[in-house]
Amino acid sequence: MGYVGLCTAAAFASRGIRTIGIDIDEGRGEQIHRGKAPLHEPQLNTMRKNAVKKKLLDATSEISVAANTNTTFLTVGTPSQPDGSIDLSHIKNATEDLGNALSDKSGYHLVVVKSTVVPGTTNGTVKRFLEQSSRKTIGSELGLCSNPEFLKEGTAIDDALHPDKIVIGSNDKRSASELTKLYRRFYGSKLPPVIMTSPEAAELVKYASNAFLATKVSFINTIANIAEQIPGVDVGTIAEAIGLDPRIGPQFLKAGPGYGGSCFHKDFQALINYSQNKNYDPLLFRATEETNEQQASRVVVLAEKLLGSLSSKRVAVLGLSFKKDTDDIREAASIRVINHLKKKGAQVVAYDPMAIPNTKKKLLDQIDCAENAHSALKGADCAIIMTEWNQIRKLKAKDFQAYMKNPNIVDARRIYNPEEFSGLNYLSIGLGPSTGTKY
Ligand code: UGA
Repeated sequence: MGYVGLCTAAAFASRGIRTIGIDIDEGRGEQIHRGKAPLHEPQLNTMRKNAVKKKLLDATSEISVAANTNTTFLTVGTPSQPDGSIDLSHIKNATEDLGNALSDKSGYHLVVVKSTVVPGTTNGTVKRFLEQSSRKTIGSELGLCSNPEFLKEGTAIDDALHPDKIVIGSNDKRSASELTKLYRRFYGSKLPPVIMTSPEAAELVKYASNAFLATKVSFINTIANIAEQIPGVDVGTIAEAIGLDPRIGPQFLKAGPGYGGSCFHKDFQALINYSQNKNYDPLLFRATEETNEQQASRVVVLAEKLLGSLSSKRVAVLGLSFKKDTDDIREAASIRVINHLKKKGAQVVAYDPMAIPNTKKKLLDQIDCAENAHSALKGADCAIIMTEWNQIRKLKAKDFQAYMKNPNIVDARRIYNPEEFSGLNYLSIGLGPSTGTKY
């Protein structure tokens, strides 16, 4: 009942499909059943409440109930190990527990791997653990599919209700057709395109999808870093123009401080590790990651352009979460930037509408946290915009002028109109020096 599991369960239940969320953490089941959703996601809590009320969604820590259902989705986490490969311990434990729970079941049961796993995991580890613990054979009493998910934090429910595709990887017709039947029930006449393939290909689709999106971000950040050197050039114009080419498309072309979140970096590391173990070095992906890592230092270089040495300077970091509308700071660019700032001797004061508690847990007392944007700006020598929160976007040039000691602004998310900040010391990722000409 982590992010993917809970959103998937709530979405199924909202379409009248009786769903039980299972988690080894008893508290989590209780929270889902009675209290609030244990994570912040628009629409999730209302959806969860309605489904629980209609008795369509239940939650428990007792895995034996899986035997009373037709289908089980494995949605446990696959965190990174130090060498980048994925840690399959949660997958192994959950699969083993599930197999034990299914050992006495009579009749068919479908198991679906939704967790992000490298090619071969469904047909290898999952199949082996499931067959051993259930003492049943995949293909006859048990079905097994790979069915990756493409939900984004912040729009997960909407994404679950309106996906652009469903990918089903299976070895046998029955498991693929059972899962398609379930999705047909879920989506009715709005069933999106279903790609039927092998489990290995389905597993690779997920990595390819995230790798492509992350590469698009590093690509536009590279163009941004070039654009910054050219008078009168703004990367926004370049992105707008190339995005009109349908072969390129407009999405994921927002230049910024680099991608963050629990998936892109983790999945890249897993894919690179997997590929290298197959004796192929995916140069492009290593470059994408390296570009992303370096983008944080580009943000700090802009601050140094405005301030010179950062030693003992008070720097306000506005926004900490890896994107707006979430309290998630996992792999957030803000943390990389703060680490650079601290190394250069800056005194950091940070503000975020939601992510302060998580940041405090991670950075402990390394930074000061402010209660609002204005108090973060008070007395600051420089402000760095790290997340595109609406309330940060709403700040005006006069707010910076009124509260800061010196109005130096580095807009790493490109959320302000440079013309409105022309009276201040304003630099932005991907914005070349002004020529004074208005277009
Ligand atoms: C990503 C994918 O978009 C989902 O399809 C996938 O299911 C998910 O990972 C996952 O594997 O679980 P998510 O991590 O929620 O979703 O975040 P995104 O909205 O993709 O943003 C990732 C990062 O890229 C953010 O830091 C964002 O600010 C950055 N980004 C995105 C840019 O810097 N520029 C852009 O144009 C777009």
